[in-house]
Amino acid sequence: EKRKTIFSGIQPTGIPHLGNYLGALQNWVNLQNDADRNGDELFFSIVGLHALTVPNDPKKLFIERREMMAALLAVGIDPNKVTLFHQDQVPEHTELAWILNCITPFGKLNRMTTWKSKLATLRYRGSEQGIDETGLCLGLFAYPVLQAADILLYRATHVPIGEDQVQHLELSRDLADLFNKTYKKRQFPLPQHIITPTKRVLSLRNPKQKMSKSSPDVNSRVLLTDSDDVIKGKIKRAITDTEPTISFDPKVRPGVSNLLSILSALDTIRSPQEWADELNQRAGAEGGAGRILKEAVTDTVISAIRPIREEYQRLQKDPGHLLAMEQLGKEKAQERAAKIMHQVRRLVGL
Ligand code: ADP
Ligand code: NA
Repeated sequence: EKRKTIFSGIQPTGIPHLGNYLGALQNWVNLQNDADRNGDELFFSIVGLHALTVPNDPKKLFIERREMMAALLAVGIDPNKVTLFHQDQVPEHTELAWILNCITPFGKLNRMTTWKSKLATLRYRGSEQGIDETGLCLGLFAYPVLQAADILLYRATHVPIGEDQVQHLELSRDLADLFNKTYKKRQFPLPQHIITPTKRVLSLRNPKQKMSKSSPDVNSRVLLTDSDDVIKGKIKRAITDTEPTISFDPKVRPGVSNLLSILSALDTIRSPQEWADELNQRAGAEGGAGRILKEAVTDTVISAIRPIREEYQRLQKDPGHLLAMEQLGKEKAQERAAKIMHQVRRLVGL
């Protein structure tokens, strides 16, 4: 089988939570391990330019870029095995994005569901005002084109994505095809998706929603830097129910089922159902399965997070190393990006 070139990006949103870890970062580590075996080439990018498409506090953004880099290293991304870099440090991303902007049909972007839903929410809120008062800007509209540029710049053949990003990847494919046809050269491969099994982690405080950094309740999420005691406290406050036994039934018992899913995701041996059986057995005749469930989750989450937190703290105390890793990533990415952009400029007549 041909070697894959895989690109994946993540926004610089600061210290990741358990949902980000199980839903995205752990998958990056798995891709890295697979690549070790089959020689795939990996580009992992922290996409700071994407963060600018919505209002941002510059100081906060600067810190969160750094935090995301440290977190990626701490979970085990190895900058010697993959190209781990800040998108905003490789100016070729914006250059390719502009060139793609110039062949992107307006109507295609207008049909992006992510854009349509943003437009609908903001229009609703600002219904008394004109379009310019909604806070929507050109950058947000063109966001999927920048995303296409990120992918095509490395001639990526594969992109791991969640369901919600399928339409954006289709646009990347369309733009690659349109570019190739317009300039009569097979410059860009049409990137395919790798749909990864989604491990959706729910909010500990409201298990009808996903765990998210945007919830005002800090007890709703476990961060990769939380201390053992903080983790213990958050699991203790997790919303479950009062039934005497444990069962895996996401519709009827979302809180309990979410905890079982977390257990099963962190301990690959048992399924959520097997965990339920095991915990009921441990509880035995005296009952108290709910307490035993929380103890098991606390232990499992603590053992998973402790080494990540310790590595993260070590990295934060060593800014020189962090900077060196950023520099390494930038150089590796730019070497490839410069080569591709040289070809692209010639093709378009620049
Ligand atoms: P948040 O919802 O906290 O703002 P992002 O939207 O920045 O997180 O998501 C970053 C990555 O983490 C994406 O790949 C997303 O699919 C994944 N992710 C976010 N929240 C969860 C969750 N609760 N469970 C699983 N994956 C998640
Ligand atoms: Na989000």
